[in-house]
Amino acid sequence: MDLLETRAIGASLERMDGRLKVMGTAPYAFEQRVDRPAYLHPVQSTIARGRIHSIDTSAAGRVDGVIAVITHWTAPRLASDESKELWVLQSNEVHFRGQFIAAVVAETLEVARHAADLLRVEYEPAAHDVGFRAGREDLYAPKTVNAGYPTDTDQGDAEHAFNAAEVRMDETYSTPMEHNHPMEPHSTVAVWESEKLTLYDSTQSAHSVRNAVAKTFGLRGEQVRVISPYVGGGFGSKGEPHAHNILAALAALRVPGRAVKLALTRQQMFTLAGHRTPTIQRFRLGATRDGHLKAIIHEVVEQTSRFQEFAEQTAVPTRLMYAAPNRRTRHRLAALDVPKPSWMRAPGETPGMFAGEVAMDELAAACGLDPIELRVRNEPERDPESGHPWGNRHLVACLREGARRFGWSGRDPRPGRRPEGDWLIGSGVASSTYPRYVLMGSRASIRFNDGRYGVRIGAADLGTGTWTTLTQIAADALGCPPESIRLEIGDTDLPNATVAGGSSGMSSWGWAIVAAAREFRRRHGSRPPSGAEASAETPEGADDETFAQHSFGAQFAEVRVNAQTGEVRLARMLGVFSVGRIINPRLARSQLIGGMTMGLSMALHEEAVMDERLGHIVNHDFVGYHIATNADVIDLDAVWLEEVDDRSTPMGSRGIGEIGIVGAAAAIANAVYHATGRRVRQLPITPDKLVT
Ligand code: MOS
Repeated sequence: MDLLETRAIGASLERMDGRLKVMGTAPYAFEQRVDRPAYLHPVQSTIARGRIHSIDTSAAGRVDGVIAVITHWTAPRLASDESKELWVLQSNEVHFRGQFIAAVVAETLEVARHAADLLRVEYEPAAHDVGFRAGREDLYAPKTVNAGYPTDTDQGDAEHAFNAAEVRMDETYSTPMEHNHPMEPHSTVAVWESEKLTLYDSTQSAHSVRNAVAKTFGLRGEQVRVISPYVGGGFGSKGEPHAHNILAALAALRVPGRAVKLALTRQQMFTLAGHRTPTIQRFRLGATRDGHLKAIIHEVVEQTSRFQEFAEQTAVPTRLMYAAPNRRTRHRLAALDVPKPSWMRAPGETPGMFAGEVAMDELAAACGLDPIELRVRNEPERDPESGHPWGNRHLVACLREGARRFGWSGRDPRPGRRPEGDWLIGSGVASSTYPRYVLMGSRASIRFNDGRYGVRIGAADLGTGTWTTLTQIAADALGCPPESIRLEIGDTDLPNATVAGGSSGMSSWGWAIVAAAREFRRRHGSRPPSGAEASAETPEGADDETFAQHSFGAQFAEVRVNAQTGEVRLARMLGVFSVGRIINPRLARSQLIGGMTMGLSMALHEEAVMDERLGHIVNHDFVGYHIATNADVIDLDAVWLEEVDDRSTPMGSRGIGEIGIVGAAAAIANAVYHATGRRVRQLPITPDKLVT
């Protein structure tokens, strides 16, 4: 144990950045003050595949206030096309509808936008294909899926065991293309000073942006500085740089002496900031009559862009959730002329656990078992895939605690038995899980001065509370009150930090801070002289996986479904989570409830609709793409088991950013079934699926 004591950890401190944010004075990327700002408005392709034949820029160039019009003919050359997504304005090829094909830089945003409209583009269109279907003949197996997991796994003979099982469920579930849509749009401000580029950026990882941008431009890392102290959400979509970072930097090269500001519009974010792939998932469960699983088969089809692969790890949670001697998981991709899919809050677990946890509910009904009891009967003693012992598997405790708090006992499992006037009431449960990730390579430095400890690490706070929680961790690691810590984050001039992704941020950075504090105390004792310094990295072996270390949870939902209109109202929802020690209850609750709200949104609202003729997302705004708002959230609560997980991190904590969304949509879908007797396997659960 490296913490001197845990006084600050566990305290419900208010957000240290809260006042600045409420006052509107926290500088988000676009608002950073720069000399002589110029404004960029991008031009996007209106075909989904083909080539640009010509672009007439003359009318745009004549508009008062236009500084530059940039196309692939006039853009500076980039050095590396390792990321095709970042290979911006380098050729006449069009890979998806909405791709950047030009940019206008002007004295004001309005002029830039107006002039961008005046470009006349002629294309040589090629036949495009955005048809996402499970029956395609060109589906392929990627080498690995996201986070490096194997594409396929097999244990025993799953097909045979399934066919021989007493009870068999064989159903297909689907989830649509979904979009992250953080409140703050993706924004970047690019400034060149001779050979040095500064980006004020909205990102989950300043260092990742620096590294990718430097590589793309052929610069050394130290020639690029990324500054990102405040970020208005990301949910994965700001976990890596996107084309807009490169576009702003390219444009700034063309307008020397000017800072170029670019914020994507809400509509542009549908094609230029990543998305969650749609999925089609065939799920088969074979069990004995009393609900013991004999076979689990999970076969997933998802999309990737043709120009650059992204393979979501949708079937990965199925490898560890429940005991079964025979198991098969598969991922297959359709390579389409769509924007590149990317990370969106718990990629893999989120769509995969929707299918898996609804399938378990269906099996419980088929076996005449309570759905919690079915899960308890299939609790694996060890990680079924690796055979490793569990670090801290408390799924059953979460289910039981949730049942007690939610009032589950005495529930009639038969569906459609609780009408209240026009409304049908039902309840549902589902499990959650998320891996404990620690990423290697973060470094923290500590310097004592004027009675305070300066703690520096290039970490990100995308609204999660990093400013506050890292301060709490540093205080306990140094044995001082939080007021004695002066934290600096969000800048590549600070020591390297890994991404705020995979719910790994606090684990990885917090560990680096604890290691640096230990080194500091070893060198300087508890009465350090002014100027005393130390630094350290997240120690080797921090990512050790001798134990299967995962978080778990149980989500309970009660819905009211209008029998006439099919409207679904979530009456109440409770999540019980096992996530290690909670660093800050106030902020943790906000993370968990935020995830559950996003799961509610996924269950009932979110769906991008692709027009296959045009390769166009037709509902690309918040009128057409619904996201849950306050009015949808009536009674939502999250609690956790009291737990200290010293195996996972020296703080005893695991990450909490993503688990809240996992299983949430399944709990709601299961509640809708319980209310109505209708099993909706295609998200979102819109009224038309209930009334027809
Ligand atoms: Mo999360 S989708 O790994 O930022």
